[in-house]
Amino acid sequence: MTADPQHWVVLPAAGAGRRFGGPIPKQYLPLRGRRVIEHSLAVFVQHPLIAGCVIALSPEDEWWQDTAYADHPAVKRVAGGAERSDSVAHALAALAGNAADDDWVLVHDAARPCLTTEDLDRLLAALVDEPVGALLAVPMHDTVKAAEDAFGARVERTLPRQQLWRAYTPQAFRLGQLREALAHCRAQGIAITDDASAIEQLGLRPLLVEGRVDNIKITRPEDLSLAEFFLDH
Ligand code: C5P
Repeated sequence: MTADPQHWVVLPAAGAGRRFGGPIPKQYLPLRGRRVIEHSLAVFVQHPLIAGCVIALSPEDEWWQDTAYADHPAVKRVAGGAERSDSVAHALAALAGNAADDDWVLVHDAARPCLTTEDLDRLLAALVDEPVGALLAVPMHDTVKAAEDAFGARVERTLPRQQLWRAYTPQAFRLGQLREALAHCRAQGIAITDDASAIEQLGLRPLLVEGRVDNIKITRPEDLSLAEFFLDH
C-alpha cells in the first residue's frame, strides 16, 4: 500500500520587485504590523495538512533573518534564481530529500498576503483524486483588450472573456512532474510566469479552482492599502 501524498509549500521570494520600486522588496514591506511575507506564510505554517515549507530567497536578502519565521523548524530557506521559475526549481531540489515524487507541492507567491484558510482548504480538497494538479483562479469579469505591443497604448483587439480566468496562487502539482515541467521549459527556452504554464507545456490541463478575488499579488504601491483593507475584513 502506498502512503497518501503529503503536501509541501514552496514560496518563491527572491524577486527584487522592480515594478513596485523602493529600496525594500515588496515581500518585506510592512503590512498590519508584520511583513507581507509573514502574512503569506502564516496560513501554511498553521495548517495541519502542510508538512513543511521551502522559501527561495535572493543571495542579497538582508530582511528574512528579521522575520518571525527565520528560525521556524517547518520553514527551510534556499537560494533563489534569476527567474521565478529558477527559484521554484531550486526549492523543489531542496525538497527532494524529504518529499516523494508524487507528493503535492503548493507554490505560492511571497507577495500574496491575503490567502484565506478557506481558499487553501478548497484547493486541497480539489487535489483528492486529481490526476494533474490545480490552481486558485478567478473568472475574468472585465472586458480584456490586447494592446498593439508591450508598450502600446492602442487596442489591437478585444479578447472574448467567457473562457478567461486570472491565475492566482497557490498552484499545486506533483513534485516530480513540476520538476520535469520546469526543466522542459528551461531546456526549450520557454519563458513562463506561473507553474501551471510549465505543466501545460507537457500537454496537461490543470484544474481551475475558483478562489476569492482578494487573494491579490502586491504589485503596485496602492495594492498595499487594498491588502490592508482585505486583511481587516
Ligand atoms: O515579479 P512577480 O510579482 O511575478 O514575482 C512573483 C513571486 O516570485 C514573488 O514572490 C517574487 O519574490 C518571486 N520571484 C523569485 N525569484 C525571481 C523573481 C521573482 O522568487 N527571480
